[in-house]
Amino acid sequence: MGSPDDDNLSRKQTHKSINDQTKYKLKSLVLIILTNLFTIYIFTRPSLNLHPISKYDSFSDSSFLLHELNATMKQLETSRSQIIVLQQQLKSTNQLVNELLAQLNILNQSINRTPDSTLLNFNDLLDDLSNEAKLALGPHKLPLGYSPRSGTDEVYASVGGGCLMYKEDLAQYMTYRVGKECPVDDVFAQRLMLKGCEPLPRRRCHPKAPVGYVEPTPLPKSLWSTPPDTSIIWDPYTCKNYTCLIERRKFPGFYDCKDCFDLQFREKTRWQFDNGGLDFGMDQVMATRRQGTIRIGLDIGGGTGTFAARMKERNVTIVTTSMNLDGPFNSFIASRGLISMHVGVSQRLPFFENTLDIVHSMHILSNWIPDAMLEFTLYDIYRVLRPGGLFWLDHFFCLGSQLNVTYVPMLERVGFKKLRWNAGMKLDRGIDKNEWYFSALLEKPIS
Ligand SMILES: *[C@@H]1O[C@H](CO)[C@@H](O)[C@H](O)[C@H]1NC(C)=O
Ligand SMILES: *[C@@H]1O[C@H](CO)[C@@H](O)[C@H](O)[C@H]1NC(C)=O
Ligand SMILES: *[C@@H]1O[C@H](CO)[C@@H](O)[C@H](O)[C@H]1NC(C)=O
Ligand SMILES: *[C@@H]1O[C@H](CO)[C@@H](O)[C@H](O)[C@H]1NC(C)=O
Ligand SMILES: *[C@@H]1O[C@H](CO)[C@@H](O)[C@H](O)[C@H]1NC(C)=O
Repeated sequence: MGSPDDDNLSRKQTHKSINDQTKYKLKSLVLIILTNLFTIYIFTRPSLNLHPISKYDSFSDSSFLLHELNATMKQLETSRSQIIVLQQQLKSTNQLVNELLAQLNILNQSINRTPDSTLLNFNDLLDDLSNEAKLALGPHKLPLGYSPRSGTDEVYASVGGGCLMYKEDLAQYMTYRVGKECPVDDVFAQRLMLKGCEPLPRRRCHPKAPVGYVEPTPLPKSLWSTPPDTSIIWDPYTCKNYTCLIERRKFPGFYDCKDCFDLQFREKTRWQFDNGGLDFGMDQVMATRRQGTIRIGLDIGGGTGTFAARMKERNVTIVTTSMNLDGPFNSFIASRGLISMHVGVSQRLPFFENTLDIVHSMHILSNWIPDAMLEFTLYDIYRVLRPGGLFWLDHFFCLGSQLNVTYVPMLERVGFKKLRWNAGMKLDRGIDKNEWYFSALLEKPIS
């Protein structure tokens, strides 16, 4: 990105010009001091006594002597006043020196504060934010003082540095009436998340409440039921009811997870069968582990939560992450009686290391993610999986040229062990596109 570099450059230039200014001031100072010293020297050196003793040999002419005395006294007088002037000059020079030293000190402090101009001060980043945003971000002093547990006496809100790159958006997001209803700005807020402002700061307002809310359908029926339209706020979505969401698979137009809201369609059969190719069966995957040892896990980008629903039927608890991309995905998952988490792929997974039995992800981890970021994501998945845990990478999309060159080495680098690997060409857009899918069952090795 260009702007931070420009910023660095201009900072450096500012520092340089301040340095030049300082040098110039220092030079003038030295000149002033030298001039003054020279004047003092002229007025105090012995030869300034313009009347050598030898002249006083002739005591006969007393009037001459008196005259001489008069002249000398006059000269003394002038000298004294000149000394006074000099003293005043010295005094002002002293003040100048002190002033310069103070300025040098300030300069030194500012240089020391930013030893590397890429390091930004948190307070600099908070500049221009509204008071509500500053309040939300912190820091807040701990009421009980220093905490040895965290090693500090203050805390910051957990908020991605990306937020501070989009200050105007953040300011807008933080504009609301405290204690009242929040603006319905889901789309705007989610866009901020997708840009990397994740997690978003907290707000002191209430989300709009659905009118005519009814209690959820009881389990296990809820797993395969469409919730009532009155259970959610429809403002952020193109569709204004579930019928519309279910029907939209039949009409042209691109939507994420276009047919996922129709639980009687493709969702019904997903992962129920193993075709020996890209489509792995859930039971076949589970069978690679000792019975009952797959208990908890995560589905990254899990659409409407069907993976979690099917796993729940097998007594496995799955947390599903999802974004609400023109559809109430999170609300829908929750209404099925499953746990949804509204997080994108840029965020560190909020699980402790070596804890999950399985991580599944379909269609979401693909070549749209920058390589470096994907590698961090894969390392994070590796981190949260327990030793012997499974990573089911389902339908990873990429180009044929990337498959063996980029992704296979990356997965090996992260340290996964291949249990199963199927690659297949995606032909719907033509063979010359060289588009591929691969599905992989990977294992985090037991040491
Ligand atoms: C000495 O100087 C004063 C005034 O400066 C003058 O009045 C006086 O006459 C002078 N005396 C001699 C001897 O020149
Ligand atoms: C500038 O700061 C550094 C580090 O704090 C210090 O060592 C140095 O003496 C300071 N220089 C001046 C001129 O104050
Ligand atoms: C659902 O919304 C669509 C428009 O999105 C509307 O045409 C339709 O009548 C609605 N259906 C119900 C049952 O409310
Ligand atoms: C799930 O757990 C319930 C209650 O413990 C049990 O009755 C059922 O057989 C289990 N289902 C599976 C598929 O293991
Ligand atoms: C990737 O490598 C495997 C074996 O090394 C090879 O069979 C396969 O054709 C390659 N795939 C692509 C898309 O190049």
